[in-house]
Amino acid sequence: MISANNVTYRVGKKALFEDVNIKFTEGNCYGLIGANGAGKSTFLKILSGQLETTNGDIFITPGQRLSVLEQDHFKYDEYTVLDLVIMGNERLYQIMKEKEAIYAKEDFTDEDGIRASELEAEFAEMDGWEAESNAASLLNGLGIDTALHYVQMKDFNGNEKV
Ligand SMILES: Nc1ncnc2c1ncn2[C@@H]1O[C@H](COP(=O)(O)OP(=O)(O)OP(=O)(O)O)[C@@H](O)[C@H]1O
Ligand SMILES: [Mg+2]
Repeated sequence: MISANNVTYRVGKKALFEDVNIKFTEGNCYGLIGANGAGKSTFLKILSGQLETTNGDIFITPGQRLSVLEQDHFKYDEYTVLDLVIMGNERLYQIMKEKEAIYAKEDFTDEDGIRASELEAEFAEMDGWEAESNAASLLNGLGIDTALHYVQMKDFNGNEKV
């Protein structure tokens, strides 16, 4: 669950919103609508922690994580759909990339070995070995067929990307 508690955001003297109280609960899909400039993007930045509230706070159930897919239709073109979902867990994705780079080294040193074992431990703790199958279940749940999981984002048309 994500909740906003008495969230107020001011730009100068103008309040974009005041005392917002809302709970986003499991199993639902929410849409945020409003006129241009009403403050939708600002509210999402507050939910994701990119912006601080003027007053009030955001609560996320401990142990749960928020992933943000930015509204840029070309930003993720080079990634496969499955990678894109895994990237939602930023730390896990960093670990995967750092591990790959270390194992690809030709002059693998003792230090690399130590670093790799630290990364492996953190990876295992984060359920890293389940990441691909978890991402695949999430995608299947959204109606995205397994055959499409390894396709690059640039090979989708606009509707499919969304
Ligand atoms: N840092 C800032 N300084 C001044 N004004 C700002 C700042 N950030 C946002 N605003 C103003 O706050 C208002 C809300 O902006 P926001 O981008 O959240 O609206 P929006 O609902 O997402 O609009 P759109 O439908 O155009 O995407 C706008 O009037 C914008 O000009
Ligand atoms: Mg916006």
